[in-house]
Amino acid sequence: MPLLGVNIDHVATLRQARRGSEPDPARAAAEAELGGADVITVHLREDRRHINDDDLRRLKEAVEVKLNLEMAATAEMVAIACRLKPEMVTLVPEGRQEITTEGGLDIAGQIEPLMEKIARLTDAGILVSVFVDADVFQIEAACTVGAKVCEIHTGPYAHIFNTRGRDCHAPEVAAELARIREASAVIRELGMVFNAGHALNYHNVQPIAALPHVRELHIGHSIVSRAVFTGLREAVREMKARIAVTTEPSEP
Ligand code: PXP
Repeated sequence: MPLLGVNIDHVATLRQARRGSEPDPARAAAEAELGGADVITVHLREDRRHINDDDLRRLKEAVEVKLNLEMAATAEMVAIACRLKPEMVTLVPEGRQEITTEGGLDIAGQIEPLMEKIARLTDAGILVSVFVDADVFQIEAACTVGAKVCEIHTGPYAHIFNTRGRDCHAPEVAAELARIREASAVIRELGMVFNAGHALNYHNVQPIAALPHVRELHIGHSIVSRAVFTGLREAVREMKARIAVTTEPSEP
């Protein structure tokens, strides 16, 4: 069964709606852990639109499971990560106007700068993951630049799943799943760990959770949305239960 990384950015988004102090992301992390989260993820954006530097400092103190810092591959963010030393960093592309991360990182187009930044993060003892599309060219580039983990972007799958009536046997959905499965095989052949995430929810998660050897699923918006009605602890518990209903083996 894959591990569950819970992205709590949207707790901070709600706080920022009033520029106030609640809800507190550190409290959210504790609740997510009580619900069974294996990883807590936050994205420190250049514009600090939700999570801020103080949240990060407090989360580093409070989080008892693995802390995964999503960030752009900039000098500023690399310096912050090297000081903070989260267990994992996930490098993502970042656009100022985007509502959420829109696509995988173009690794092949920035080999040299990424290699240098990943080496600095790795030297600081941080496991480096890169968020990539299910594209062999980019996955090979991820290996070249020294990433140890590839998180495959499941957004296109989630979109097709939704527009094809949530039927995972619909040909287009099956094709998208096959693409991710093939990408995951290349990730493993190259000696990297296969994670997946983005736009996963309670309806579409199971076919992804059932993929062989998927180590972690990274999920945010759907869990925080459900938490509005059930509380975060219960929302995480329910997602863990969905992930557990898989038949194919995954790596320990
Ligand atoms: N993985 C990555 C790399 C992301 O950027 C995000 C969004 O912050 C997620 C997973 C979680 O996506 P969602 O909020 O759609 O579950």
